[in-house]
Amino acid sequence: MRGIKTCHLKVDRVNPEKDAIARAGMVLRRGGLVAFPTETVYGLGAAATNTRAVARIFEVKGRPPDNPLIVHISSRSQLKAVVKDITVEAELLMNDFWPGPLTIILPAAPVVPDIVTGGLTTVAVRMPDHPVALALIKAAGVPVAAPSANLSGQPSPTQAAHVLQDFDGRIDAILDGGPAGIGVESTVLDLTTQAPTVLRPGGITLEELGSCLGGVNINITDGAAKHTHYAPHAPLYLVTGSGPAVASKIRRLAEAEKRNGRRVGILTYVDSEDFSSAGKVVFAGYKGSPETVAAGLYAALRSFNELAVDIILVEGLEEKGIGLTVMNRLKKAADGRLIQV
Ligand code: TXA
Ligand code: MG
Repeated sequence: MRGIKTCHLKVDRVNPEKDAIARAGMVLRRGGLVAFPTETVYGLGAAATNTRAVARIFEVKGRPPDNPLIVHISSRSQLKAVVKDITVEAELLMNDFWPGPLTIILPAAPVVPDIVTGGLTTVAVRMPDHPVALALIKAAGVPVAAPSANLSGQPSPTQAAHVLQDFDGRIDAILDGGPAGIGVESTVLDLTTQAPTVLRPGGITLEELGSCLGGVNINITDGAAKHTHYAPHAPLYLVTGSGPAVASKIRRLAEAEKRNGRRVGILTYVDSEDFSSAGKVVFAGYKGSPETVAAGLYAALRSFNELAVDIILVEGLEEKGIGLTVMNRLKKAADGRLIQV
């Protein structure tokens, strides 16, 4: 459904043009929706204090109203306005990781509307490490509530073209600053629980959090699982294990599916085995460099929607560092279709 003209504003990633930023900031101040790049994925922003604007985010995304949004800030003084108090752990983490891909959850200040927090007494906050995002928040003059700029359930957008696939004609503007960097979302860390709790692994690894908080016990839950899918249209099967057994399992599964007349897609890596005879191959970086997989993962998942495949087979990665985040997203996309060899 297209209702409005989406203003496409191309900007330089490092030195975003002032007039484009000023225009986008104005759109936010007037209650509009602006998509913008961050160092993780593209976000879909609204002025966090404008209840009606934030309501539009939920509407265009088709997002369940009980799934709260992250408030994006460009300065520490904005943090003081949106949270009730700042813990010692929060200070340590912000010093190490902000601006950057770490979202922290703290008790919310009364100015934060219920629609942003999903009615919770806490609020998620992050300072993105991207010149365009920071300039936009500054120009808006208020904190910016923003989920990833994808239709609910779809893989997050890492390029402006992905945002337009989902929202052209439905949002007011997009700041197109080229590809986002890390490619997977921020780590979400709840600091309102007894021990800090990772609700979503992301761009900051567990190893990095551990060394910052030295000795502090960190819990991991999958609290966000009920809402997120990251899934292409065709059912996705995640094959895990070690050694050559994984590749032969993928080949056997592909053969069986083809015999049943189904078109097979395979998500694999440039430095992995050659699967070209087994199905339509899409690469998501190098498995020897999980950072490149994170950067290419969502574009790879989205590309299956254009490839006319009936089933997608995915080769798993080792679950450490950013590989843990990639596997978290792949498991959600697989929605229980896990095959261990
Ligand atoms: O990298 C990112 O975090 C991107 C960019 C745009 O900043 N944003 C993003 O937003 O991924 P979204 O809405 O797709 O994911 C936000 C996650 C959701 O899982 C949500 O449930 C959780 O953060 N969240 C937000 N506020 C929360 C709160 N008060 N308590 C618990 N979880 C919260
Ligand atoms: Mg999202």
